[in-house]
Order: sequence, then C-alpha cells, then structure tokens
Amino acid sequence: MADAAALYLGLISGTSADGIDAALVAFPDESTGRPQLRAARTFAYPGTLRRQVLALAAATAAIPLDGFGELDVATGAAFADAALALLGEAGVAPAHVRAIGSHGQTLRHRPDGRHPFSLQVGDAAVIAERTGITTVADFRRADIAAGGQGAPLLPALHAAVFADPVIPRAVLNLGGIANLTVLLPGEAVTGFDTGPANCLLDAWVERHLGTPHDADGAWARSGQVHEGLLDRCLADRWLATPPPKSSGREVFNLDWLQARLPAGIAPADVQATLLAFTARSIAAAVASFAPATREIHACGGGVHNGALMAALRAEFPRVHIDTTAALGLDPDFVEAVGFAWLARARLGGLPGNLPSVTGARGPRLLGAIHAAPPRR
Ligand SMILES: Nc1ncnc2c1ncn2[C@@H]1O[C@H](COP(=O)(O)OP(=O)(O)O)[C@@H](O)[C@H]1O
Ligand SMILES: [Mg+2]
Repeated sequence: MADAAALYLGLISGTSADGIDAALVAFPDESTGRPQLRAARTFAYPGTLRRQVLALAAATAAIPLDGFGELDVATGAAFADAALALLGEAGVAPAHVRAIGSHGQTLRHRPDGRHPFSLQVGDAAVIAERTGITTVADFRRADIAAGGQGAPLLPALHAAVFADPVIPRAVLNLGGIANLTVLLPGEAVTGFDTGPANCLLDAWVERHLGTPHDADGAWARSGQVHEGLLDRCLADRWLATPPPKSSGREVFNLDWLQARLPAGIAPADVQATLLAFTARSIAAAVASFAPATREIHACGGGVHNGALMAALRAEFPRVHIDTTAALGLDPDFVEAVGFAWLARARLGGLPGNLPSVTGARGPRLLGAIHAAPPRR
C-alpha cells in the first residue's frame, strides 16, 4: 500500500451518545489534503457505558470524582476497542496508522462562563496504549483558552472539502445539536450551532416510547404541531444571539422543554412540535446569519429522519437541500473524518480552529499528543 503510512483514524461520540463513530481515512493527495474514507462504522457503547455517560452528562448531575475517573478510562478503552475493531475489519495493521484523532465523549460544554470549559472523557493515554497508535485528543481546550467557543471544529474540514468557488453553500450537521457551516465564495468561513437537531426529539421519544430515537420521524408525523409551544420554543433568546455561539444538552434538555410545555398536550403533538422547532430554528438561523445560502448539504444522524428532512425542505423552498453524499462524503462519518483530519493537522503543525468561527484570538494548534508506546 503506497500511501499506507498516510492513514489516520478519527473517533467521536457526539452529544447524542448514540455510539462511537470510527473512520479510517487516507490523504492520498498531500497538496490538497482531501480525505478519502477507507472504512467506517459506528460501534455501540459496551454494557452500561451509554447509560453512565447520559447520567453524568445530565445538566444537574453532581459528578462524583471516582465515577468520573473510571468513566474516563472505560470510555477510552471503548474508543480504543472501536479503533481496533475497525482496523480488523479493514485488514489494516495498527502500525500503518500514523495517528488517531479522538474527540472523546462530551460530558459538559460551558463556553460562556467565568471559567469557560469543554469537558470530554475518553482517556487518550489508554487509547494510545491499547492500540499502539499515537493519539491526538482534547481538541477544544486550546481554542477555549484563546477566548473561543471551542466549537464548532468541523468548519475547517467543511471549508477544505465542500467549498465551491461560485456557489454559496452551507453544511448542516444534524447531530444532537445542529451546526451550520457557511461557505460563501471569497468570504471568511463562519459556523455556529443553531440549536437542537435531535437531542430534544431523542429525549422525548425515550421518555414516552422507550426507544433511543424516533425512527424516520414516524412518531412526530403522527402528531400535530402545537403553535403555542412552537412559539415558546422559538422565543428562546439564545437562538437570536449572533455567532460565535455553541450549545449542548446543558441547555436543550427535558427541563428546558418542561418549562415551556402547556398542560394537557398529547405526547405525539410535542414530538411533532419539537421536529418543527428544529427545522424552524435552523431556517431562522440561515435567514439571519447566512441569507445568501443557495445549497445546504446535510450530514449527521438526522439525515435518516425523513420527516425532519421534509420539514427542512419545506422551510427552504428556494434552497437546494441534499446530503454530503452528493459531494462525495458519507453523511454518517463527516465528524469522524473531521477528527482524523484534525489529528493530521496537529501532527503537521497546522492550526485546526478557524477564529472567524469560534471567536478565538487566533489560529491555534488543536489537541494534545499522546505518543504511541515503543514497539517491541
Ligand atoms: N433512522 C433514524 N431516524 C431518525 N433519527 C435518526 C435515525 N438514525 C439516526 N438518527 C438520529 O441521529 C442521532 C445520531 O446522530 P449523530 O450525528 O451521531 O449525532 P451526535 O454527533 O450527537 O452523536 C440519533 O441520536 C438520532 O436522533
Ligand atoms: Mg453520534
């Protein structure tokens, strides 16, 4: 394999904590740095790990230090096992991977406090030790230390891979939270969170039907949008705040919803309203902060929610909407590819953040490098 030494492996579990996305990526063309997806899969968290993550990530959870430390290591081990399983499937030896870029699992994202921080678990020393591969992790800290939001971090990849010299495009990541990257020809890249994509939909369906997500938005389709609730959701002042901005389940959770919920509303109507809220808040963000957008390319798990994609298309009659598959990258693995890309940038001594996106004082090298153990 001529370019075997140029393989990188990206790992992330997003705010949905729906599983560990792993992507094995080559960069065959050194000059453009365009990624080529070689293998990818989402691995379920083993045992009770997902439940532990969600419990500790709850906004009100007081985190016991012992539980935190153990979760950090257990998550790191699960990430390492995901990397090794993907390499096994792809028939690639760990020695052929130059680095892993691991985002880890976010437990808290508080970019706006007196001491702003973003906290991910998934001990990268454990990943490096178990896989034998140099691991770059903790990508958000340097940007936050430089006054940035530490998020979103994917716009740099989106700009490198998806920008068009003529067409004003946006990339819309529909994870737990929705993020928009705005790629206007000849202008600085911007990007920000627009609010919830799936996190409220997931939380509500889990509470009422006991399933982790509303497959294809079928339950939402069975309900009626409640205009009063929709208006109350859309009135959240954060939505109108200009970028840079980022958010998470610290804000958009069932307590947030409960504070707006009218009495006696049917659960399916709430789901229909939450889906409309996701589509409408994205449309409002595009109208306010990216009105020149002519194409939107979606990625993230939300692309599998047909009702959500239909609601988005209805919001944007004059904008072409499809997924990043149309631009050559599997929408389920754009984020994991992004962390492989960021690991490569870090090892190449290149900044990973875009100050025009995060609000940081300047470009920064992102991520701490955990060296591979010596080969025996
Ligand atoms: N078939 C589907 N129908 C509806 N929603 C889906 C489907 N598949 C995935 N999703 C949604 O996508 C989410 C996962 O998307 P992902 O991009 O991995 O988010 P995150 O980055 O937050 O982990 C799930 O939690 C779920 O809400
Ligand atoms: Mg996910």
